[in-house]
Amino acid sequence: MRLGFLGTGVIAAAMIRGLAGQGHRILVSPRNARIAAELAAEIPGVIIAPNERVVADSEVVFLCLLARDADEVLPGLPFRAGQSVISVMVDAPLGRLRALCAPATDIVITIPLPPIADGGCPLPVFPASPALEALYGARNPILPQPSEAALSAHLGVSSLCSPILDQLLAAVDWLGAWTGDPAAAETYVAAMIRAYLPECARGGELAAALDSLATEGGLNATLRAAMAPAKDSLRHGLDGFRGRLGLPPAKAEPA
Ligand SMILES: NC(=O)c1ccc[n+]([C@@H]2O[C@H](COP(=O)([O-])OP(=O)(O)OC[C@H]3O[C@@H](n4cnc5c(N)ncnc54)[C@H](OP(=O)(O)O)[C@@H]3O)[C@@H](O)[C@H]2O)c1
Repeated sequence: MRLGFLGTGVIAAAMIRGLAGQGHRILVSPRNARIAAELAAEIPGVIIAPNERVVADSEVVFLCLLARDADEVLPGLPFRAGQSVISVMVDAPLGRLRALCAPATDIVITIPLPPIADGGCPLPVFPASPALEALYGARNPILPQPSEAALSAHLGVSSLCSPILDQLLAAVDWLGAWTGDPAAAETYVAAMIRAYLPECARGGELAAALDSLATEGGLNATLRAAMAPAKDSLRHGLDGFRGRLGLPPAKAEPA
C-alpha cells in the first residue's frame, strides 16, 4: 500500500518499524530530520517527502504530530474524499480532525504504544478501521470501540504503565538492597511479573491469576491488603482525566 506519516517522531518510528518488510511504500515527513533519515536508511520503501506529497500520494495517512501543531500543519494539505486518515494524536478529538482533514471523512483514532515496533501492541480504535486492521491486525490485537468516549477511556488507562513500572522498581530497589545485586533483582522482578501475565487475556485470565495468589495469610494476600488503598488512588487518578478526555462527569453518589 501507499502510506504516509505526518510527523516522524517516536511513535511514527515505532509504527513504521512495525510495518517493515511488508512491501509498503511509506512516505515520511522530513521532521524529525534525524529519525526520518534513520528510517529511510534502515527500511526499504521509506521515502522522505514534504507534507503535501505525503498526503497527496498516500492511500492511508497517519497523523503522528503533537496535537498542538495540528491546527498549523493540517489545514491546506491536499486531503481527499475516500482517503483513510488514522490519527494517533492525544487531545485531538474526531470533530476537530474532521474539520482539519476535510474533505476526507474516513478518519479514525487509535492508540499505538512504542512496542508496536515488534508487534503485540493492543490497538483500540474508533470508528472501526479496515485500513488499520489490514496493516497491523496480523501482529497486533485490534480492539474496535463502540464510541469515542470508550476510546478516550483507553487513553486514560494507557497511563497505567508508568505507575506500575514505578511500583516494580520500588520492589527491585528493596530486593537489591538485600541481595547487593540490583541487576539480578531487576531480572527476578521482571521475569516474575511476565510469568503471571497471560499471553492474550480474553476475559477472566487476570482474575484467575490473582485467585491463584490468594492463599489466606500468605505473603501475596498480606501485601495486597496492605496496598489496597492504592486501588482507590488509581481510580481517583483515572477519574481525574475525565475533563481532559471528554468523558462525562462521575455520576453523583446516591444520597
Ligand atoms: N510516544 C507515545 O508513546 C505515544 C503513544 C500514543 C500516542 N502518541 C501521540 O502521538 C503523537 C506523536 O507523539 P510522539 O511521541 O511521536 O512525539 P514526537 O516524537 O515529538 O513527534 C512529533 C513529530 O512531529 C514533528 N513535527 C513538528 N512540526 C511538524 C511539521 N510542521 N510537519 C511535520 N512534522 C512536524 C516533530 O518534528 P521535530 O522533532 O522536528 O519538531 C516530531 O518528529 C502525539 O500526538 C502523541 O500524543 C504518542
